[in-house]
Amino acid sequence: MSILEVTDLKAGYGNIIAIDDVHLTVDEGDIVTVIGANGAGKTTTLMTICGVVKPISGRITFMGKDITGLSPEKIVKMGISQVPEGRRIFPRMSVYENLQMGAFPHKEIDNDTLNWIFSLFPVLKERKNQKGGTLSGGEQQMLAISRALMAKPHLLLLDEPSLGLAPKYVELIFDVLKEINKKGTTIFLVEQNAHMALNIADKGYVMETGRIVLHDTANALLNNKMVKSAYLGE
Ligand SMILES: Nc1ncnc2c1ncn2[C@@H]1O[C@H](COP(=O)(O)OP(=O)(O)OP(=O)(O)O)[C@@H](O)[C@H]1O
Ligand SMILES: [Mg+2]
Repeated sequence: MSILEVTDLKAGYGNIIAIDDVHLTVDEGDIVTVIGANGAGKTTTLMTICGVVKPISGRITFMGKDITGLSPEKIVKMGISQVPEGRRIFPRMSVYENLQMGAFPHKEIDNDTLNWIFSLFPVLKERKNQKGGTLSGGEQQMLAISRALMAKPHLLLLDEPSLGLAPKYVELIFDVLKEINKKGTTIFLVEQNAHMALNIADKGYVMETGRIVLHDTANALLNNKMVKSAYLGE
C-alpha cells in the first residue's frame, strides 16, 4: 500500500521553477531514494513534501490524506519527520535537549524511543549532556536522525545524510537506516551518493533539472546503463 503519493508537483522560488511534473509513490515499509546531481531539485522535492516550500501546483497525499500546502508543523504531527540537508542541529543545546525538541509533537519524551535511539547510536548516550555544536560531523548527523525519530514518524525523509562525512560514518549511517526501516519506519532518501542509496533502497527515482527522468526498482537502476555511467562512475 502506498503511504505517500506525489502527483504532478511543481514548486520553486520566486520566478524560478525548481521542480516540475514530479510524480512519486512511496509504499509503506519501503526505502525509496531520489538520486540526482547538484541542483536537480532533490531538496526542493523533499522540502515541498514536508511543507517548508509551498507548491505552485500538484498534490501530495500521505496515508490517504491530502497534505498539500499544510504547515510543516501539521505535517510533522501527521507522521512525517525530516532530516534536513546540512543536519541543522541546535549547536548551543545539549544532545538531550536536541532530542527533546524532536519530541515536540508528543506531550513528553517517549523513553522506549529514547532508549532505542541510544542503542542505535551509543555515542549519543555518552554525550547526552554535551552541546550539539561540539559533536563531530558524523555525530551531528546521528543526532539529526535521532531528533527526527523522537517524533515517532511513519515516514522519515532524509536529505543527503552522507554529505561531507568520512567513509566510516557513511557506512554506519546507512546501516542504521536499514535498521530503522526494519523496525517499521518507511524511508524517503534524497542522495547524491547513488551507490550507497541504491544499495539500501527498494525503489529509486532519478531526477534531472527538476524532473523525474527514470524510475525503477533499485536493483534495476544499479544495472541500468545510463545510471551506471552518469551516477555510479562505471
Ligand atoms: N532558496 C532558493 N532560491 C532560489 N533558487 C533556489 C533556492 N534553492 C534552490 N534553488 C534552485 O532550485 C533548483 C533545485 O535546487 P535543489 O536545492 O532542490 O537541488 P538539489 O538536487 O537538492 O541539489 P544539491 O545536490 O546541490 O543539494 C536549482 O536550480 C537551485 O539553484
Ligand atoms: Mg539538495
